[in-house]
This record gives sequence, structure tokens and C-alpha cells, in this order.
Amino acid sequence: MNKKNTESGSGNSYTLIDNKTNKKYELPTQDGTDGPSVIDIRKIYAETGCFTFDPGFTSTASCDSKITYIDGEAGILRYRGYPIQELAEKSDYLEVCYLLLHGELPNATEKDEFVHNITYHTMLDERILFFFRGFPRAAHPMAVICGTVGALSAFYHDNLDIYDPRQRMIASHRLIAKLPTIAAMAYKYSLGQPFIYPRNELSYCANFLRMMFAVPCEDYKSNPVLARALDKIFILHADHEQNASTSTVRLAGSTGANPFACVSAGIASLWGPAHGGANEAVLNMLHEIGSKDRVPEFVKRAKDKNDPFRLMGFGHRVYKNYDPRAAVLRSSAHEVLEDLGVKNEPLLELAIELERIALEDDYFVEKKLFPNVDFYSGIILKALGIPTSMFTVMFALGRTVGWIAQWNEMIADPEQKIGRPRQLYSGATERAFVPIEKR
Ligand code: CMC
Repeated sequence: MNKKNTESGSGNSYTLIDNKTNKKYELPTQDGTDGPSVIDIRKIYAETGCFTFDPGFTSTASCDSKITYIDGEAGILRYRGYPIQELAEKSDYLEVCYLLLHGELPNATEKDEFVHNITYHTMLDERILFFFRGFPRAAHPMAVICGTVGALSAFYHDNLDIYDPRQRMIASHRLIAKLPTIAAMAYKYSLGQPFIYPRNELSYCANFLRMMFAVPCEDYKSNPVLARALDKIFILHADHEQNASTSTVRLAGSTGANPFACVSAGIASLWGPAHGGANEAVLNMLHEIGSKDRVPEFVKRAKDKNDPFRLMGFGHRVYKNYDPRAAVLRSSAHEVLEDLGVKNEPLLELAIELERIALEDDYFVEKKLFPNVDFYSGIILKALGIPTSMFTVMFALGRTVGWIAQWNEMIADPEQKIGRPRQLYSGATERAFVPIEKR
């Protein structure tokens, strides 16, 4: 069957024509509130006997969502309608968490109650602390948090009915609250230092920085500028519609699985260098480049088809314009370094030079490869004293709310079905078994 898309007279459906039989199939379209319409192909297999083929899902809308809107061509990102730049400037991370989960910004009472709920769920069951001791000290922290978050399902399984919205919300609070505690403890374990327990009088980010950097033998004073910079990073990473890790959480959750186990699957998906692992890869790349005069050599390598090297922190599946998150973090990086009194930070200078050369280069211009969020987040995280191996963990902390908000939306969706893609089979056709002595 050849596909020939012609817009039908009504303008709200497409006609698919089988060129062999001339049979026509009407495919209705659905309009969203913003962004491209979708062609509804749910009945296409039943009617035509064909599947659609879209490896990497570049043309597939996997769900109907009200949470996050991206226009990659225009460089727009909005959570529940609010532009990311405004949220980064005027809101704070926990308020954004409430917005993503509930659909509206909280009033003052709702916000107090939400902050209280998160604050009072930050402690871990003491038995979880023993899990850390089973990991090698040099284990990558993403491996540790993936395992430990998955293990939370053992603690919160039997008393969780995922079809009860209130119980889903409690699970959501637990995840947002406990992730920083787990992440900081994973770091402390890697150093061989005592775990630092959460403090309820501190803000979400100040508490996290304290759990990361305090030691029991002296007082720790958190720096509000650094806590605010971290808060901004979390806001910018909080959700990004149906990216690889979120789709992983939705797919795992579509079976009715435990949400802590689903988020653990999302963490595994985030870890890869093409996704959340890129912020760590950016720093490693900047170290490898070493000095400004070597930038052209690396740009040349990135353009070479026979060299697998890519400029980490450049390009995005969706943004074919400047990543709006990168624009916010670019100025935040300067603010943080200024506040810390870091003059002429060589890595930042190197990053700016790399950005300048790449943005002027025909290859990057033609392919619309702009710096993405990971390009600048790594620089800020480094300035905050976060070790490189923890960078992707920072992404996971910020994204937890997005994963769980999307999971909530999916479970509450009456049209929700188990995610079960099909395939184009190109393997061997039926053949007879060959006994081992004849192979
Ligand atoms: N350096 C050099 N060339 C690149 C790069 C890069 N960073 N990114 C894409 N290209 C080229 C690629 O070789 C291809 O060229 P051609 O058309 O000649 O074959 C073209 O640009 C399109 O690339 P693609 O891989 O087909 O694009 P994609 O949409 O599948 O991949 C990406 C998007 C993010 C995986 C890719 O740009 C990449 O690997 N970037 C570096 C890793 C990175 O920074 N990832 C973080 C993404 S942002 C955080 C997040 O949201 O997870």
C-alpha cells in the first residue's frame, strides 16, 4: 500500500489511499490548544491491516497531555501555560512542583500546606540506609539512586492503591521529598562520611546542600545564592513533555506497576549520555578540550562523519532553536560565578568560546545545533561544588516531579491503555529446527 496524504474537504481529516485497490480510508485529526494537530491512527491497523512505522517516535504523539508545551522551532517551553523564563525568575521549585501536579499555581495556604507535606516526607525508613552499604563505594551515583528508588516500592506497595487520587498524591509527595535525601546519602556513602539527616526548618534546596556538604563535627551555613541557583536548575529540569525518561515512566506505569518502580525505570533511562547524562559529558568534554586554542580541533572532529565524537551539550531532538532553558542558565552561570567571586573561570571561558565558534560554523547553523540546557547546567553545578558524577542525579531530582505528574495524568486518563508498540518484522521466516550435530 502506498500512502498518499491528501487533505480532505472538511480540513479536519486525512485520506489514506491504497494505490493497489484505490480503497480510501478517512483519518480524523484532533486539534490541541497549541502546537500541531494529530492524525488519529488508532483504527488504522483494524481498517487497513498495516501498522505505522516511526522508529524513535519522531512523528508520534503517544498521549494527550495538559502539562507541558514545547515549540522547538520557536524555542518555547511552558509548564501549564506559564513560560519557563517567568517561572525561573518569579517562582520557586516547590511552587512549580505544585503547578505541575495540580495544574494551577497554589494560593498562599495551598503553598504552605504543600511545602509542609514535602518537608515532612524527607526522612527515609532507617532500613533503607543499610542498602547503601551494599553498594561499592565507587559505584556511579545514578546506579545507587536507581536501585534505592526502586527499593522504595518494597516499602510503599501494599498500602498503595494507584487508582485512588489521594494515595497517588501521597506517593508523589514521598518521591519529591525523598529523592534529595537519597541522592545526598549516596554521595556521603561514596565519600565514607556519615549520613546527614534532613532539617525541617530549611528550604528544599538549602536542606539538600546541607545534606550534601555538612559534617556532624561543625556547623554548616547554607548560602542563599547557591540554594537559589540550584532551585532554578530544578525548575528548568522539572518537566519536558514526552522525552525518553518520561515516556519510560509512562510505559512502565501503563501496566499498573508501582510508581516508585516506574520512577526508578525513568532514572535508568535518564542516565544515558544522549539524555540526562549529557551534563556530565559536557564537563568531561571541556576538560578533554583543555584550552581555548584547541576548540577548533574539537569542532572539526564533531563535524567529521567518520569520527563518533559529538559536541556534548549541543543539539536537541525537539529544539531547532536556542533551548530556552540554556538561555536562562547562561545568565545564571555568570551570576553564580560572580557571587562566588570566581573570576575568569577557565571552564566557563572555554564553554563560551566553544559556543561562539559552534554558533558561527555552517555545519552547526545548517543543522540548527544550538547549546542545550546541559551545556550551562554543568558549569553552575561545578561552581556549587557538586561533583561531576552527581550531575545527572541533579537532573533526576528536578525531573522527578515531571515523571510523577505525567504518571498521575496517565493513570487518571479514562482512555489509558497498556503501552504496547508493534514492529516491522524483518527476521527469518519459518524454518525447521536443526539438530546440534547438523549445525
Ligand atoms: N555534535 C555534532 N553533530 C551533531 C550533534 C552534536 N552534538 N548533534 C547532532 N548532530 C548532527 C548529527 O550527526 C546529524 O547529522 P547528519 O544529519 O549529517 O547525519 C544531525 O546533526 C542530526 O542529529 P540526530 O542525531 O539525527 O538528531 P537527534 O534529534 O536524533 O538527536 C541529540 C538529538 C540530543 C541526541 C543529539 O543532538 C546529541 O547527541 N547531542 C549531544 C548530546 C546532548 O547534548 N544531549 C542532551 C540533550 S538535552 C537534555 C535532555 O533533554 O535530555
